[in-house]
Amino acid sequence: MAQRIYLDRKWRFNESFTEDMITEPMEESTLVNLPHTVKETPLNYFDESVYQMVSGYQKSIFAPTQWENQVVSLVFEGVAHSCDVYVNGKHVKHHDCGYTAFSADVSKILEYGKENLITVKVDSRETLNQPPFGYVVDYMTYGGIYRDVYFEVKEKVHFRELNIQPSLLERVTTSKRNAKQIKMMKVQGIIKTECIMPKRIYKLAAAERVFVRQYLDDILLISQPVGGLEERENGYYMSLTSAPASVKLWDIESPRLYKVRTQLVLDDNVVDEDVVTIGFRSSEFRKNGYYLNGRKVKLRGLNRHQSYPYVGYAMPESMQRLDAKILKEELALNAVRTSHYPQSQYFVDECDRLGLLVFTEMPGWQHIGDKEWKDKAIQNTKEMVLQYRNHPSVILWGVRINESPDDDEFYEQTNAMAHSLDPSRPTGGVRCIAKSNLLEDVYTYNDFLHAGNNKGCAKKSDITSNEEKPYLISEYNGHMYPTKPFDDEEQRQEHAIRHANVLDSIAGESDIAGGFGWCMFDYNTHKDFGSGDRICYHGVMDMFRNPKLAASVYSAFSETETILDVTTSFDIGEHPACNRGKSYIISNADSVKMYKNDVLIKEYFPADSSFENLKHGPILINDFVGDAIEQDGSYTKGQAKLLKEALNEVTLKGFKPTPKLAWLAFKLVVLHRVSPKQAVPIYNKFIGDWGGESREYKFEAIKDGEVVKTVKKAAVTSVHIDAKVSHTLLTELHTYDVANVRVKLLDQNDNQLYFFSQPVSFEVEGPFEIIGPKVVSPMGGCTGVYIKSIGEDGDGKLIISSEGLEPVTIGLSAECLTK
Ligand code: GAL
Repeated sequence: MAQRIYLDRKWRFNESFTEDMITEPMEESTLVNLPHTVKETPLNYFDESVYQMVSGYQKSIFAPTQWENQVVSLVFEGVAHSCDVYVNGKHVKHHDCGYTAFSADVSKILEYGKENLITVKVDSRETLNQPPFGYVVDYMTYGGIYRDVYFEVKEKVHFRELNIQPSLLERVTTSKRNAKQIKMMKVQGIIKTECIMPKRIYKLAAAERVFVRQYLDDILLISQPVGGLEERENGYYMSLTSAPASVKLWDIESPRLYKVRTQLVLDDNVVDEDVVTIGFRSSEFRKNGYYLNGRKVKLRGLNRHQSYPYVGYAMPESMQRLDAKILKEELALNAVRTSHYPQSQYFVDECDRLGLLVFTEMPGWQHIGDKEWKDKAIQNTKEMVLQYRNHPSVILWGVRINESPDDDEFYEQTNAMAHSLDPSRPTGGVRCIAKSNLLEDVYTYNDFLHAGNNKGCAKKSDITSNEEKPYLISEYNGHMYPTKPFDDEEQRQEHAIRHANVLDSIAGESDIAGGFGWCMFDYNTHKDFGSGDRICYHGVMDMFRNPKLAASVYSAFSETETILDVTTSFDIGEHPACNRGKSYIISNADSVKMYKNDVLIKEYFPADSSFENLKHGPILINDFVGDAIEQDGSYTKGQAKLLKEALNEVTLKGFKPTPKLAWLAFKLVVLHRVSPKQAVPIYNKFIGDWGGESREYKFEAIKDGEVVKTVKKAAVTSVHIDAKVSHTLLTELHTYDVANVRVKLLDQNDNQLYFFSQPVSFEVEGPFEIIGPKVVSPMGGCTGVYIKSIGEDGDGKLIISSEGLEPVTIGLSAECLTK
């Protein structure tokens, strides 16, 4: 039966490749484990040339004699960007895409019972004639063997090109209960299996020695002799269909997964077994939106790059899975676009597990190259579909180079490729042009219309070239409003509000299937983009996955977590002319009570939000006074009412005389006899707070009558370090593990201190290493660190400190299940 032997550990690496490495052990090298990046980088301000090189990797592997009669494939999950693989001096594979897997049959080249030399020449230069290269690219492309490498060892007789395609049959049955006809829906699964039987086994089939068995989890679905197959060029084509009676649906709310085990049985021995994880769901883009299992779901997603600080693309399983968890559980999304290339199988697998819908796409960015380049792009499309089509989470194939111009001849081929390999899923292709030639099933468009003061998105009819086909927004915001974690409050708040504006508009367009915001987190980019420091600050999170204010707009969609965020610190000196302007409550609570110094000012409800199409859109804080003036006792009811209105108008809009303020002032002075001289004292007493006792604003999120979350905003009196670790037990399965630690500097009320920039240092004890610098300056009151296991069992700790503050210690353990 098939075995997988991981080869992630102990590769020799040299930044320059020389021909003698093909046959001779490298003389000068460093020992590295995979995932590996050819160059660790600083966080920012580095040149993209640093990772562009032709490097060499080498590993000696013992091939046991038991493998002699088997088929051994050497599989690379991801090598950026072009590589040549040699085994024992022989060239076994050339591969030209940095984002898809490839394999080479090395059975005849391995020397059994001996050490074998594997050498990989890796070209990570951006001058390569393949996607995404050829012009500029808005993301760094890094280099290296950055995903797993393994041997797959199979019996000579094995399935080839096995493709499991689950689908659904919904049956409506009626039964009679209490003289009433009751309609019942029963979901029946259908599993279509296709594969190629090798010729040699098909010959034995005639003698009824060959069987195929299939299980759904532990239930036997099929057990039948192989026979009557159609001959094809590379073997015999077999197609089976089974129909498990009653299955549970895979859905974003309850992502039920099943394992399909398909076995090839020869003379009662299982000679090959293929296990595929599947989900039964119906997924459909219709003219008026997206439907999952028959119900309309508005896709709410973000775009994700696969990059990390310092190590580029090279992060192991747990970090890939963490991003999917953040998207689903922290940002309450139901979808993600893997911009602009297929991403780690671990990431997509986690999307399957969590119920996060995936729009994945062929690699590329704006540029289309020559014939050789296009052929490679078509091959990339093929590899993408073959390698990801088993994932229930994948709902759409992107078969155009992101934001490229029309090229019908080219895109007819990419569409045909995806459709032929996967008839069950539609194609899309991300463009930034309206009314372009629509060869795909879904018009997927980057809509950057929103500029803060206009509508959030264009109408479908203004963009698509075929209104009969579905329409999806593949990007919005991004470069329209880059926002650094350390930008001022107005910028950070505006960033959040713009995300809410677009979400609101998309929610209001019933024929738009949904949208993917740009983007999940900030990323390193080329000199032509970003803020000059090689970072595009387009994320709703920073590079360490620390949320910005905009993240709360998404989190507020959560059905399970109560979110409460207030977009201001209430510090007037942070604003021009001390005018704080608008501030918002972002919450999904039943209501939010706002207090000033423990006196209730106002209770806000979701209906107070002006974002009409959002269940929990941001709510403008429009009352800073409450009943304080009336209760003060110095004013009549009429005066108190007008004064309150005037003070709130001034607080929101500043001291400039608006028509409303002028009218209120007129009424107060002329009709209610309030002297203009009192204006400043009244302002200072009820709003200004200068020199007075400390003011504290308190917000309580109420759910089912209980206070479930509290936010307090008051003058900062102390600072502390807060750390959130992804996991404290680092487990080495076939390679090192990494934990992500998100670090924040908070005040006594746990508010982020956006302008804290004193260095923070990291120190580890025990079998761990720190990735990147050990002393960093927080950016926007937060930073992060990645901790790596080093192949030894044991306990240890991470100490996070900053001068004058109480250090934070996180206990860590490492467990190495293989070495
Ligand atoms: C889009 C592009 C993305 C990113 C984004 C920034 O045009 O597809 O990769 O550059 O702009 O907003």
